[in-house]
Amino acid sequence: MTGIGIVVAILVTLVAVLIPWLPTSASEEMDRIEFVYWFATIICIGIFSLVMAVIIYSVLTFRAGPDDEADGPSIHGHTGLEIVWTVVPAVLVIAIGIVSAVVLSQNGSAGANPLTVKVFAQQFAWRFEYPDQANLKSGELVLPTGRSVKFEMTSADVIHSFWIPEMGQKQDLVPGIKTTLVVTPKPGHEGTFTLVCTELCGLGHATMRAPVRVLTQAGFDAWVKEQQSGGGGGATGAAVFTSAGCAGCHAFEPAGSNAAIGPSLDELAASAEQAGQPLDAYVRESIVEPGKVIASGYKDGVMPPSFGESLSAKEIGALVQYLTGTEP
Ligand code: CUA
Repeated sequence: MTGIGIVVAILVTLVAVLIPWLPTSASEEMDRIEFVYWFATIICIGIFSLVMAVIIYSVLTFRAGPDDEADGPSIHGHTGLEIVWTVVPAVLVIAIGIVSAVVLSQNGSAGANPLTVKVFAQQFAWRFEYPDQANLKSGELVLPTGRSVKFEMTSADVIHSFWIPEMGQKQDLVPGIKTTLVVTPKPGHEGTFTLVCTELCGLGHATMRAPVRVLTQAGFDAWVKEQQSGGGGGATGAAVFTSAGCAGCHAFEPAGSNAAIGPSLDELAASAEQAGQPLDAYVRESIVEPGKVIASGYKDGVMPPSFGESLSAKEIGALVQYLTGTEP
């Protein structure tokens, strides 16, 4: 029986270790989550191997003969065994509970000096604001390593959920409430990641992603400086089109998008003429006040009315130029 148990344990351990179930950790929180994962997995491997060993041994050893129709021996309870199989699982479950509670508490603590980043979600885009960096706004999430980042998050419309797989932590964004999440990117794990929405939030849910760039503290400071000086080229129309999530709903040939949730943006000139407005003003109005003119075949209230606030004037200007083909 011990032999069977050891073979099962080796097989299951290989499945657990050889298949990369989790992405490579890039944050302190993810390290702790991995610890809980392995703590529970090792306990499960032990119990699974024990149960499989007893089952396989019993099936092989106590198998009834082909013509054996007799009743088996009648067995009554075994107090010692019952105490063991009650106490051991109870201790293991309590241990998992304690380890999880400690990790949950540590992962929720941002420490004394976190970098605060406000996160705004709307169908189907992410926006970020850095209140300690003069309210710097960005469609790309840029973070320094070696410092806890506290996300203060809210949604403009429906429930979304914030998840960077390599950072482990996950949290819903709910309209009307501010939820928080802490992530501490690890030094030595600078790089690019993807923020994904992990709550089904509408037709464009699968496209609701944002680029995440993790830099050293010096690199982060340089990025902030560059953004504040207005440089960086971050506000080209194409960049705003991507970061504001336009491609999630609209077809637009120059951007290579072919979504059909909202009207195509390839015939804006004709639509402006129909609405009796100059092209530039029509496009600007459609971004800021999407309910004013509704393209036939589409419904009011689908496009969020909040782009006038979530995008800066410069970004809207760049977007209008991009959509009207008048970019310098
Ligand atoms: Cu936002 Cu799914």
